[in-house]
Amino acid sequence: MDEMDSTARALVARGKGILAADESSGTIEKRFKSVGAVCREENRRAYRELLFTTAGLSAFISGVILFDETIRQKAADGTSLVEVLHRQGIITGIKVDKGAKGLAGFAGEKITEGLDELRERLGEYRKLGARFTKWRAVIAIGPGTPTDFCLLANAHALSRFAALSQEAGLVPIVEPEVLMDGDHPIERHGEVTQRALRLVFDELAGHRVRLEAMLLKPNMVVSGQNCPQQVGVATAADATLCCMKRTVPAAVPGLVFLSGGQSDVRATEHLNAMNQRGAAPWELSFSFGRALQAPALKAWGGLAANAAAAQRELIHRARCNGAARLGEYSERLETLKP
Ligand code: 13P
Repeated sequence: MDEMDSTARALVARGKGILAADESSGTIEKRFKSVGAVCREENRRAYRELLFTTAGLSAFISGVILFDETIRQKAADGTSLVEVLHRQGIITGIKVDKGAKGLAGFAGEKITEGLDELRERLGEYRKLGARFTKWRAVIAIGPGTPTDFCLLANAHALSRFAALSQEAGLVPIVEPEVLMDGDHPIERHGEVTQRALRLVFDELAGHRVRLEAMLLKPNMVVSGQNCPQQVGVATAADATLCCMKRTVPAAVPGLVFLSGGQSDVRATEHLNAMNQRGAAPWELSFSFGRALQAPALKAWGGLAANAAAAQRELIHRARCNGAARLGEYSERLETLKP
């Protein structure tokens, strides 16, 4: 327990957050296609290697979440990518869910799969060097959805995952993502997020999950992507904090927000605004995928010759988010790209 508690705290160390680089095969294919990169194993390996070898990354990045393929891959010089991260002083994590599938009987709703044989897979991941895990539930807002049944089924699966992770000595990152897709106003996003989180923490308690040895990866509370009324940064930051304070016990060491399709700068602005509000019961940090990688991926475009340019983009976003962790981000920082 001591080791897990300190890993959880190290992941939300001052000024640092997590790089989510755990895109599944389907997702990474989409991302690569969007920048014209060919999605074959060597390219995925080369791309992840360039991210992880970025000089100075550990000043802002405490941990990286990997996908199953990546945790088994090696850098060009034969060093395992896990070792590359370890030498940087970065903790390795692993996505262990097997994706969100249709929830039978509930049109338009999803349940995350991956509990079968999970105990055995966790043991293997720990041997491969992982110290934390991630499981993502996907909740969509629609007319009449999400149902309580869908929220409960996902909260239950998240909690079984969390309990099994802790049994294996791995810190679980519990991610119930309420999507921002849709034209709903921010109030509806807040209401659904609140319902989802209440059920998640009820189930976590039922499963005897140790809150000190886990992290929550929530969505920020924002206006639906197609909502005609888009609220400003301060309103979203306040709505998010209000929702978290009502639902997340103070024993949880940190909230590591996902970016969920917000622009990279907007995600940073939201995180910064929350940290500027002053003392919260938990560290307010990030576990961004797109909001950290999008500019780097674009600069790379599948070409080895662009690796250095891509690394400059990654370290820039990492630095901006590191500053947002402290409430010290500003527009000026955006102009100081190396
Ligand atoms: P985004 O920040 O791109 O939403 O990705 C975070 C993540 O890991 C989703 O599971």
